[in-house]
Amino acid sequence: MFEEKGQNRTEVLEELDALLRADSTYSSGHPVASMSTIPHSLGVEVFSRTLEKNAGRLHTFQGSARIEQELLRMIADLLNLRGEAYGTTTSGGTESNILAILAAREKARRRVERPEVVAPRTAHSSIDKAGWLLGVKVVRTRVDREYRAVPKDIERKINENTVGIVLTAGTTYLGQIDPIEEIAEIAKDHRLPLHIDAAFGGFVIPFLNDLGRGDYRFAFEVDGVTSVSVDPHKMGLAPIPAGAIIFRNKGYVRRITKTVPYLRGESAVQVSILGTRPAAPIIAAWAIMKHLGREGYRKVVETCMKRTDHVVNRVEQNPLLDLAISPVMNIVGIESREVPLDDIVERMEARGWRLATSPLPPTLRLVIMPHVKEGAINAFFNDLDDISTTIPA
Ligand SMILES: Cc1ncc(COP(=O)(O)O)c(C=O)c1O
Repeated sequence: MFEEKGQNRTEVLEELDALLRADSTYSSGHPVASMSTIPHSLGVEVFSRTLEKNAGRLHTFQGSARIEQELLRMIADLLNLRGEAYGTTTSGGTESNILAILAAREKARRRVERPEVVAPRTAHSSIDKAGWLLGVKVVRTRVDREYRAVPKDIERKINENTVGIVLTAGTTYLGQIDPIEEIAEIAKDHRLPLHIDAAFGGFVIPFLNDLGRGDYRFAFEVDGVTSVSVDPHKMGLAPIPAGAIIFRNKGYVRRITKTVPYLRGESAVQVSILGTRPAAPIIAAWAIMKHLGREGYRKVVETCMKRTDHVVNRVEQNPLLDLAISPVMNIVGIESREVPLDDIVERMEARGWRLATSPLPPTLRLVIMPHVKEGAINAFFNDLDDISTTIPA
């Protein structure tokens, strides 16, 4: 009910505290399936100082406008884009994927009446949402045993209605990286835009390479990649909602730009889907990236990967659990040999864990974000070992 008379602040805050006690907290280490984490403390400070700023009104907030451009430039640099950074900050991976598909559709507008995009089965569900919103059919393709896109199947599904291809660098389910270089050749042959969804992987893969945990080429260093999305609010440690999409060419951005007739200057030109939107997470992401530098993120990734190794160890010690793939990054998919996953989830949740499962393959999904410490991992596996080895009556 919306009451006639207001309550005093203390009462409201007490009620709020009581309600929020039902939330999991990152500080407990418990959320083991979340792709966000405790925002960096500098980001929290900057966020609270910049609450009134509106990224949909950058003519009014000229300093924020400059910061957004600097953030996009830093992200473009992380993605190995030399030269100008064209793109926009967004509310996250979903909005970025919608914009990528919108740009692809608009590029082909004159040529194609019934647009289609081709994406492997493992591409994030926001691709389906984008297709639904934009009237673009999403043609899903096969994945191999390691849950990577199959280049031949992508090529087979391209037809005269195809307007673009979407791949993932750091899949939601298993943190897998599609064969981007091979498929970029196909995209070039067919003159199609190729979007890379690196919402999660964008702040991980460059540092895996540095740490000798891989040698991946996934972003603008691959000729044929036309756009890449990355979320600072995932492994970038920024407060929610902070996403970004960068395009290689200005033409794509022009195609997704709309003017707002009653606003002036920067405010009159909108690339993102939202109108009024917070600049605070963008400014916080800028501050965190400047503060941590590559060195800081490398350390974060190193720590998460060491803890991922520990998770792998614990899975390997349990004869009734298997790894879906050997983890590429800090996402682990766990298969159960005997006890059905639904039973495991139900019983783990009864012990206070909040879990996620993936359908492809059926797995329990762990994301070893910076808040997931070794103690929490051990507590989790003590419960999981018990539950995964007792067949329910
Ligand atoms: C690979 C990938 N892309 C996109 C998204 C959507 O991101 P958001 O929830 O920030 O919209 C996710 C979310 O988990 C993701 O894992």
